[in-house]
Amino acid sequence: MKEIIPPPPAIVRNDMAAIQALFQKNVVPSYARFEVAFSHGSGSYLYDVAGRRYLDLGGGIAVCCLGHAHPEITKALVEQSSKLIHVSNLYYTEPQGRLAEALVNLIGPGKVFFCNSGGEANEGLFKLARKFGHDEGRFEIITTLNSFHGRTLAGIAATGQEKVKKGFEPAVPGFRHVPYNDLAALRGAISPATAAVLIEGVQGEGGITPATPEYLLGLRALCDEKKLLLLMDGVQDGHFRTGRFQSFQRILEGVAPSTPANSGPRQSAALQFLPDGISMAKSLGGGFPMGAFWVRAPFADLLGPGTHATTFGGTPLACAVALRVLEVVQREKLGDNARAMGEFLKTGLARLAQKHPRVIRGVRGIGLLIGIELAADHAAFANNGKAPSIQFVNRLHEAGLLTIPAGSHIVRLLPPLNLRQSEAEEGLKIIESVVAKPA
Ligand SMILES: Cc1ncc(COP(=O)(O)O)c(C=O)c1O
Repeated sequence: MKEIIPPPPAIVRNDMAAIQALFQKNVVPSYARFEVAFSHGSGSYLYDVAGRRYLDLGGGIAVCCLGHAHPEITKALVEQSSKLIHVSNLYYTEPQGRLAEALVNLIGPGKVFFCNSGGEANEGLFKLARKFGHDEGRFEIITTLNSFHGRTLAGIAATGQEKVKKGFEPAVPGFRHVPYNDLAALRGAISPATAAVLIEGVQGEGGITPATPEYLLGLRALCDEKKLLLLMDGVQDGHFRTGRFQSFQRILEGVAPSTPANSGPRQSAALQFLPDGISMAKSLGGGFPMGAFWVRAPFADLLGPGTHATTFGGTPLACAVALRVLEVVQREKLGDNARAMGEFLKTGLARLAQKHPRVIRGVRGIGLLIGIELAADHAAFANNGKAPSIQFVNRLHEAGLLTIPAGSHIVRLLPPLNLRQSEAEEGLKIIESVVAKPA
């Protein structure tokens, strides 16, 4: 199914200390980094500067959807960069038009704006909401507690977690937070100034919490009733990670649509739900940085000429890479693989949770977006000063596995969508070895 990538040559020089010294002297210390420096990768594996191999089930935080050093990504980069890298959005280029068409075909009738990151894609949605409500004096956006929407000033105002806001007050005005999966709370927070609602289909940084189908369908009805834009942040849970292109399509799969009031053809629940805007980034470029947002047809021309722009948005290079990534994902049916490998990992982890309930409290998620909930009160995690999730991730590193912490006691698995079963088995074995001896 997946291209066979030859293993890279072993690296023998361990430059870890020298690299760390460069960072300490020259890089803004805004990230708490783990004690590993990587030099290269191949498929689902990464190699550190000492030549040690790690199985990467973190995928660069849900970015490397085809794994590392995928030959088709390299080929697209080489082919397109030898023709045209950038011309600016003063002109037309074919790859941007073709990628927009591909995304519209995967979501529904609408149009796409291209940018460079998830935070920037969400900024676009915030501006869309303000433009939409502007003439009626509506500007507020309701988001949910525990959400994550990026680190820009408006992104931290939108994010429903205090820790990202601290020290950066005053907050950008116009955001309110309500509990997730709670329709009554959302209804109660709507004011005459409300213009939009923004949610993640599966809360990612907040600890892998999926929306319920009832919540999604209820939100659509509520937004229609109150004339609000329904916006989805699909940055982490999008791009087939849940098995379908967008998480709402997966969550609403098999859900009965409500009967339409008119006698028109019955639509699927996902089509009935169709949001008004969706932000995307992370896996879109398979590691090449890019973001985008899709706007549903009735609102697709709200951001007219001169209202929104970014120099690097939708360069021919970024779009050619994203088109190739999509082509591989669809050709190799990696959405189906995400479902199958997700189920395989979740079943194995549930078995581990049953065997070691004092270390693992539970497992949740959809497809290859999986959260392992640690028992925060386990003695092995006490008296270290670090969150249990960080301690556990560190122990997995020592055992040769990369995972991603979320909050104080959730560890996330966000592996490449082309993960093989043998790699999933290897990951489970490593996790079991650490769970069996957590101290
Ligand atoms: C749901 C969600 N939205 C937005 C962002 C921000 O994306 P970026 O880091 O590309 O700005 C993230 C990043 O983790 C995310 O998970």
